[in-house]
Amino acid sequence: MNTRLTRLLGIAHPIVLPGMTYVAVPRLVAAVSQAGGLGILASGALSPEQCREAIREIRRLTDRPFGVGCSLKLPGAAACAKVALEEQVSVINTSMGKGDWVVEAAQAYGGKVIATISSEKHAKAALDFGADGLIVTGHEAAAHGGKVTSMVLIPAVRDMTDKPIIAAGGFADGRGLLAALSLGADAVAMGTRFASCTESPLHGETKQLILDKPAEDTIYSRNFDTFPCRVMKTPGGQKYTARPLSPPVALTRSLAAARELQTPLGDIARDALAQGLVPAIQTAYFGAATLAMRKAMFDADHHEGVQLIGQVQGLIHDQPTAADIIQRTLAQARAISQGLQAQWA
Ligand SMILES: Cc1cc2nc3c(=O)[nH]c(=O)nc-3n(C[C@H](O)[C@H](O)[C@H](O)COP(=O)(O)O)c2cc1C
Repeated sequence: MNTRLTRLLGIAHPIVLPGMTYVAVPRLVAAVSQAGGLGILASGALSPEQCREAIREIRRLTDRPFGVGCSLKLPGAAACAKVALEEQVSVINTSMGKGDWVVEAAQAYGGKVIATISSEKHAKAALDFGADGLIVTGHEAAAHGGKVTSMVLIPAVRDMTDKPIIAAGGFADGRGLLAALSLGADAVAMGTRFASCTESPLHGETKQLILDKPAEDTIYSRNFDTFPCRVMKTPGGQKYTARPLSPPVALTRSLAAARELQTPLGDIARDALAQGLVPAIQTAYFGAATLAMRKAMFDADHHEGVQLIGQVQGLIHDQPTAADIIQRTLAQARAISQGLQAQWA
């Protein structure tokens, strides 16, 4: 399929693996890119050295284009973005912050910058700083979807720009791909779907839970990491989001996470404080959330852990490879499109 996005990036299929901390790791990124989609490495939990090594590992696994995701407000993100730019990665996916300097540096070597947004206001800001395309994240999405559903947000953003749009939030199959294209998007990003595929590093029992859960079993709350965030409805998810963490508890948990993950505390604190007090407090909440995420993802502990997940879990009932997901999605979209054309005749 040929869309504005496939032409911009030189990829075969309009299907994207979005950045997911601890999930969008080199093996999965390479599997999606090798199958003709675009894999995006999540750099949120990586030091600059780890980010460089992850980029090189992806390059050992595939020679196809891939991206690196950088949430610019997080400590260490700018350093990882610089590494990705030095490595001349094809696509830099920015979120949470102004990426004008990323655009300038990427353009110098022919790289493209795709900004993740979840509102029209943020879409405008990203277009103003020169992003080459947008990932538009609707309310249905795992983690930080906006207030507005994909159904409305995608056409609203399409009305603002002719640049490529990747629809995210609620897409898992060919029905979703065709719907997204009809709404004006040029591709879909599928987080929950790829998080449950064979190459995803999630614990087997956590993948099984995704297959078992209905669409309505999610919680959308600010109480996870201070931004509205969608998590799976589990005992852990319900407990964590029942009330906001107090800042001291967030800080204590964040320090525990940094110790457990052997993250250099001085660097985090310096980076966070350099951005101001509010981002520094947000960093503590992100840090606190990290341990809960890891417990759910890797230990399948859904009493203390919290699993980020989208409503689209209700449409997922099996665990294929990334390549199978891509092929099935394309075949289903094509078949539905042909059926619809026959109906019009
Ligand atoms: C397991 C998992 C982990 C995720 N981790 C992050 C993350 O660390 N940061 C982030 O901004 N979004 C994260 N996301 C959200 C995705 O980047 C993407 O926006 C979302 O999955 C799209 O919606 P969908 O799940 O309906 O496909 C995560 C999603 C999943 C399923």
